[in-house]
Amino acid sequence: MNDTAYVLFDTTGESLHKRGYRKLKTVAPLKENIAASMVILSRWIPQQEVLWDPFCGSGTIPIEAAMVAKNVAPGLNRTFLAEQNGFVSQDLWNKARLEAIERIDYRARFEILASDIDQNAIQIAKENAKNAGLKADIKFFKADARKIKRPAEKGIIITNPPYGERIGNKDIFNLYRDFGECLKDFKNWRFFILSGYEKFEKAFGRKANKNRKLYNGKIKTYLYFYF
Ligand SMILES: C[S@@+](CC[C@H](N)C(=O)[O-])C[C@H]1O[C@@H](n2cnc3c(N)ncnc32)[C@H](O)[C@@H]1O
Repeated sequence: MNDTAYVLFDTTGESLHKRGYRKLKTVAPLKENIAASMVILSRWIPQQEVLWDPFCGSGTIPIEAAMVAKNVAPGLNRTFLAEQNGFVSQDLWNKARLEAIERIDYRARFEILASDIDQNAIQIAKENAKNAGLKADIKFFKADARKIKRPAEKGIIITNPPYGERIGNKDIFNLYRDFGECLKDFKNWRFFILSGYEKFEKAFGRKANKNRKLYNGKIKTYLYFYF
């Protein structure tokens, strides 16, 4: 470009957001790094708050949450292209992997719930959690998010409901309205909801305390914070 040539060197291979555990996908999966960002932005306190994703799809948010709680390095389950080019010895790669394994907190105490209305999504999410070595850390079950009941005094909902862009759902307004109604019973809980639906707050029935723009691939979405 403009008489300048660039020599680019790919050290990664498959995109960095791909952690390697998601062999199976549901209709509109979230990128792993977006799911991890949602968990980190929520400032979840694993020892004190139950974390629930009631629209879990392929399980990305609960799996990333368990990785955050146990301090599992995001690249631990995958390989990198730079491992094949010889610039960094395999010994160093092995050492880095061992270090990451030593840092995993196997004694971390936390509770993560993951539900979806679609039994097939639950099966896929379970399989993905198994690939990540985290199946025993997450409780998966089938449930309609419009009818869930508060399972504990304190908790946090981090979720990514359908928003019509990729899942053709004409009833999206009603779904958000009913979900908002249902969450009125979740006293002392905090909510973090990612949606690209422009009437989200109106339908949900409450203005968010804060929001933050996040791109899920090319789709502009907002993460709505309810404290
Ligand atoms: C945008 S996807 C979630 C994607 C997920 N974050 C992932 O990474 O795979 C929305 C999910 O909501 C589920 N869903 C739709 N209506 C629902 C309802 N009433 N209750 C629970 N889940 C519902 C769909 O089955 C779908 O899996």
